[in-house]
Amino acid sequence: MYDIVKKTKEWKFMKIGIDKLGFFTPDLYVDMAELARTRHEDPNKYLIGIGQAKMAVIPPTQDVVTMAANAAQRILTVDDKEQLDLVIFATESGIDNSKAAAVYVARLLGLKSNIRAFEVKQACYGATAGLQLARDHVALFPRSKVLVIGADIARYGLKTPGEPTQGGGAVALLVSADPQILALDKQSAYQTQDIMDFWRPLGQTEAMVDGKYSSNIYLEFLDHVWQDYQQKTGLKLEDLAAVLFHLPYTKLGLKGIRQLTTGAEPALTLRLTKEFEHARTFNRLVGNLYTGSLYLSLLSLLQQSEQLIAGDRLGLFSYGSGAEAEFYSGILQPDFKAGLMGVDYSQLLANRQQVSVDKYEHLFKQQLFHAATEELDYSNDPARFVLAGVKEYQRQYLEH
Ligand code: CAA
Repeated sequence: MYDIVKKTKEWKFMKIGIDKLGFFTPDLYVDMAELARTRHEDPNKYLIGIGQAKMAVIPPTQDVVTMAANAAQRILTVDDKEQLDLVIFATESGIDNSKAAAVYVARLLGLKSNIRAFEVKQACYGATAGLQLARDHVALFPRSKVLVIGADIARYGLKTPGEPTQGGGAVALLVSADPQILALDKQSAYQTQDIMDFWRPLGQTEAMVDGKYSSNIYLEFLDHVWQDYQQKTGLKLEDLAAVLFHLPYTKLGLKGIRQLTTGAEPALTLRLTKEFEHARTFNRLVGNLYTGSLYLSLLSLLQQSEQLIAGDRLGLFSYGSGAEAEFYSGILQPDFKAGLMGVDYSQLLANRQQVSVDKYEHLFKQQLFHAATEELDYSNDPARFVLAGVKEYQRQYLEH
C-alpha cells in the first residue's frame, strides 16, 4: 500500500519526456522545381502550393532499419544503452510481416539482450503512440530509458499526384525521467475513426490515397482534438509558444496554423505563424517521413527558432491516416539544445548531393521489396549502417 501511495506521488511530480532527439535521412535529394518541370507542372505548385523545396531520395542500400540505426547512433551514449530496456519502432513501411524492425536495430546498436523490442503501426500516428507508451513505462520504472523510433519511406509512385509528397528518413527519441528537451504534459486529447483516406494493402509497395479527402480529414481531426484539448486542460492558444504539426507536405501544416489562429489577435497569429515557418524548414527540404514527420518538425523548430526559452509550452498535433489523431503538449526544458547532441542538421541537409530526376526514378525502382537473393553495392553510401543485400530472403545489414 505504502509503495503505491509513494509511486503515485512520484508520478505526479516526476517530469518525463524527450531527453534526446536524433534524425537521419540519406545524403541524396531531388530538386522540386526540376521535378515539377519534368512533370509539366508549374514549379510554384510544388514550391508554394504544396510547400516542398527538396525531396529525400532513398538509395536501395537504406531502409527503415538502417535509417533508424543511423538516427539512433547520433544520440545514444554507452550509459543510455545500459539504461535502455525498451525499444519501440513505429513504421508503416516495415520490411517484414512478422519480425519487428526494432530487433534488427537493437542488434546494430549493440543493445543488451534483456530488453523489450517491438514494432507498432498506425500510419503516421505510430511514433506518437510509441512516445506515449514510453512515457507510461518510465512512470512505472523511473530509471528506465526508452528508445522510440519513427522511420519510413513515403512512396506513392512515379508520376502520381502524391509523388511530390514523398520523402523518407528516421527520427530517434530517447524518453526518460528529467528529460533535457521536452517534459510531456499528462493530459492530451485523441480521436480514432475508421476512415479510408490512405492505406497500403498487403503486397503493395506504394500507398493508396484519396489525397484531397485525406487533407480534409486531417483538418477536421485537428479541429476536434484541439477543441477537446482545450476543454480537458483549460489551456488556450495564447498559452502555446509554438504549435507543431504532422507535415505530410508543409502546406497542410500552414492550413492547420491558419485554422487554429482564425479570429486570434494579430500579434498571436504573427508569433505562431513565424514559429511555424521555423518548424517547417527541415520538412520542406526532406519531404514526408510519415510517422517521423512531426518530430522532424520539432527538431526544425528547436534548431531554427531564436525566440524559444525554457518553460515555453509547445503544442503538438499528430495525425495518422485511417484515422487517428492526438493533440498533446510539453514544456521546454533548460537544456533543450543539448538534447540534440551538437549535430547541425541545417549543415547536414545542405551537404547532401542533388540527383537528377532520371537518377531519382532509377533509385526509386531499385528499392528492394521482394528479392530472394541480391547483393547491393554500398560503396557510395556514406551512412554508417547500410543494407548490403538479401540472402534467401534475409536482409543483410552491416556497419561500415
Ligand atoms: N502556384 C501556387 N500554388 C499552386 C499552383 C501554382 N502555380 N498550382 C497549384 N497550386 C496549389 C493549389 O491551389 C493547391 O493549393 P490548396 O491546397 O491550397 O488548394 C495546391 O497547390 C495543390 O494543388 P492540387 O490540389 O491541384 O494538387 P494535386 O491534386 O496534384 O494533389 C495532394 C495535392 C492532394 C496533396 C497530393 O499530392 C496527394 O495526394 N498527396 C498525398 C496525400 C497526403 O499527403 N495527404 C495528407 C493527409 S494524410 C496524412 O497526413 C498521412 C500521411 O502522411 C500520408
